Formats: sequence, C-alpha cells, structure tokens
Amino acid sequence: MAILKIARMGHPILLQRAEAISPAQGQSVRQLIGDMVETLSDAGGVGLAAPQVHQSVRVIMFFVPEERAAPDAEEKSVPLTILINPEVEPVGKDTELGWEGCLSIPGLQGLVPRFRTIRYRGVALDGTMIEREASGFHARVVQHEVDHLDGILYPMRMRDLSQLAFNEEWRRFVAERKEMTGK
Ligand code: NI
Repeated sequence: MAILKIARMGHPILLQRAEAISPAQGQSVRQLIGDMVETLSDAGGVGLAAPQVHQSVRVIMFFVPEERAAPDAEEKSVPLTILINPEVEPVGKDTELGWEGCLSIPGLQGLVPRFRTIRYRGVALDGTMIEREASGFHARVVQHEVDHLDGILYPMRMRDLSQLAFNEEWRRFVAERKEMTGK
C-alpha cells in the first residue's frame, strides 16, 4: 500500500465526471482502495473520493466519527465505508447548512447547503450492495464525496461566499460566535 498525492482545487481532474467501475477492474480497484484507506488515515480526513488521488473512477470512502454523529440519529457513528459506483437520492426536500472542509482545499472551510436526509447505495469491496438512509453529518459527508465523482467541489455548492473561511479565523471568529448564539 502507499500514501497517494492528493489533488488540490485547480487540478482539472477534480472537475471531471469520473467513470463507473466495471467488474473486470477488480484487482486494480482493490489496490486503489487500499491506497486510499492509507491516504485518508494519513491526511486525517473523514472522507476521500478517487478523483482526489488522481483516479477518475467512481469510488468513495468515508466514516462518521463519534463526535460528529447527530445527537438525534439512531446511528451514533459510522465505520469506514467504501462504496463503488455510489448513488444518492434525497429523501424529502429539506436542506440544511453545515460547515465542510475538503482535503483538496486545505486550510479552508465553508458553509454548504445539503439535503438533510438521503438514501444511498453502492457496491462494497466484497461485491455486496450497501443501502442506507442517512441524515445530518452522515448524509452531508456522503453528498460531499459523491459530488467529487461529478466534478463538484463544495464551494461550487455554496450560496454565500462570505461564509468561506480559513480554519484559524473560523476558530477565532465563527466558532466563538456559534458558542455565543448557539448557531
Ligand atoms: Ni472533499
């Protein structure tokens, strides 16, 4: 396995629509996924899509750490989930705003609207189909990663670019404001 170089915003591969994986690609996908797991762990993120490591194919991985799980969700956290050829559909029309970062846009975070609840499915590494309903942060991370497969980065989803901040300033000004107002 190997730690792969992560493409940063501005690299054209991040703006391409990624190709679906065919069953014939089994062995190379296994290798790619192994390398992506190692890369994600090294980078300290919660999700990674193959285009971010310069492979324009439809593979994502993510997890929901305990501290990011929604307090009202039945599922407290989600273990590392690998999805090949994932699909997402919204459940209802409700959207909500939440702060997102991206390993391809280091040092920044932005306030991004996402569907509150989604249904998603994709093929696991062992060939079985994973199908889940997700809300809150879980739904947000899946929408973020699947967007990477369609050449979409989170700033392209933002409605208000005044809500794009460097992490240090976010901690100093935005997190403080949230503490004061609860928003
Ligand atoms: Ni990202």
